[in-house]
Amino acid sequence: MSTYVVVGLQYGDEGKGKITDVLSAKSDYVVRFQGGDNAGHTVYVGDEKFVLHLLPSGVLQCKGKCIIANGVVVNPKSFIKEVGQIESKGLRTDHIFISRRAHVIMPYHILLDTYREEEHGGTQIGTTKKGIGPCYEDKIARVGIRMVDLLNPEILREKIEKNLKVKNSLFEKYYGKPTLDVEEIYNEYVEIGKQLQDRIVDTELELNEAIRDGKNVLFEGAQALMLDIDFGTYPYVTSSSPSTGGVCTGAGVPPTSLQNLIGVAKAYCTRVGNGPFPSELDNELGEKIRQIGGEFGATTGRPRRTGWLDLVSLKHACMINGINNLVITKLDVLTGIDTLKIATKYKTEDGKIIDYFTSSTTKLYDYEALYEELPGWTEDITKARSYDELPDNAQKYIEFIEQYLGINVYLVSVGPERSQNIIRKELF
Ligand code: GDP
Ligand code: IMO
Ligand code: MG
Repeated sequence: MSTYVVVGLQYGDEGKGKITDVLSAKSDYVVRFQGGDNAGHTVYVGDEKFVLHLLPSGVLQCKGKCIIANGVVVNPKSFIKEVGQIESKGLRTDHIFISRRAHVIMPYHILLDTYREEEHGGTQIGTTKKGIGPCYEDKIARVGIRMVDLLNPEILREKIEKNLKVKNSLFEKYYGKPTLDVEEIYNEYVEIGKQLQDRIVDTELELNEAIRDGKNVLFEGAQALMLDIDFGTYPYVTSSSPSTGGVCTGAGVPPTSLQNLIGVAKAYCTRVGNGPFPSELDNELGEKIRQIGGEFGATTGRPRRTGWLDLVSLKHACMINGINNLVITKLDVLTGIDTLKIATKYKTEDGKIIDYFTSSTTKLYDYEALYEELPGWTEDITKARSYDELPDNAQKYIEFIEQYLGINVYLVSVGPERSQNIIRKELF
């Protein structure tokens, strides 16, 4: 009985949802601790596809509780929609709860995110336009609306009035856009509060008690370390801390309670949205990987940029997160490529060779990734369920990663379906 943290180590979409689903079968709690409905976590059960945005991916098979903790920014309309989708498939949702402290994504956050993205001909960050950044800004500025406020009409009206004074002025004077009506928003969100009242609870006390009582508690990260507000490629990042450190502030549990720190990485690399990507394959092979890997955003449908595995950034991600168990996903997508490349060093703009990740995002655009080459394999690996069923060259690929990072790969994912895993060590 223990705690488990699943985080992404690249630029998101590593397959965290699939891994969380697998682990949630034995979890008493599955907890989202940051981000919001910018996430898109895909789980295949047989041929049936589920895409979770705001709900923990544990919702499908966790027999205990699913918690959206304080660090998440919640769009309550998305929540209601997603709960409806899950219920329409005949699954239960009465085990999903939201922290009273979680901040609410309001309509003006989504508009602000959209207007900013549209400025300067749309060459901004490339956000999901879900209002994530503006909502976290209000949280830090101490003017945000929390889930608990939806249950108190007087406070809710006061906060909407205060916020709209500033936001409406920005919409009208700076963006030349229509303003929003206090009454309309107030009426809508009071109703939402009534609808959700039984699910809005204090979550930190229960989670700490569960950990103390030796329950299995699984924390599910959204986004990934390279999109982390502090340690990613700022400003081309999201506005939260998708690291293991983010669990403590995002769910209210102490660092000493975190035990199994599971980092998920694809066998190659993808990025959706703008920002540097040193190992990007902007060519035919990149397009082939995009097609075979189905690399299109689960939230926005945008094509994902593709590239080789980058161990320089992965080492940075493992260091910040303190990863002690690695998961490599989508190894099957690399089948049939003659020679595989893995970035192990960068050449800087002045010719220096380095093997650490830099804080200077602008310089990163001029860095050249330097590669080691490994031979590929042609055998279908999607039916492999034990490590020795993998072709020698696929095993060598995994072992190269382990040796570079000094961390064991405990699970290799060889297909999108829940059962397509090679589990080398049982963590539970
Ligand atoms: P997340 O955001 O980290 O949960 O990842 P996404 O769900 O956005 O993207 C991962 C995609 O890869 C999804 O479409 C998954 O169904 C799929 N996937 C996950 N693991 C594997 C795998 O091992 N092989 C293949 N071919 N697809 C996978
Ligand atoms: P999952 O959980 C991939 C990217 C956006 C953009 C940047 C900021 O599915 O891995 P935001 O809307 O958060 O302000 O956008 O972050 N981004 C993701 N990319 N997977 C995600 O989530 C992402 N969530 C945000 O594309 O570049
Ligand atoms: Mg995703």
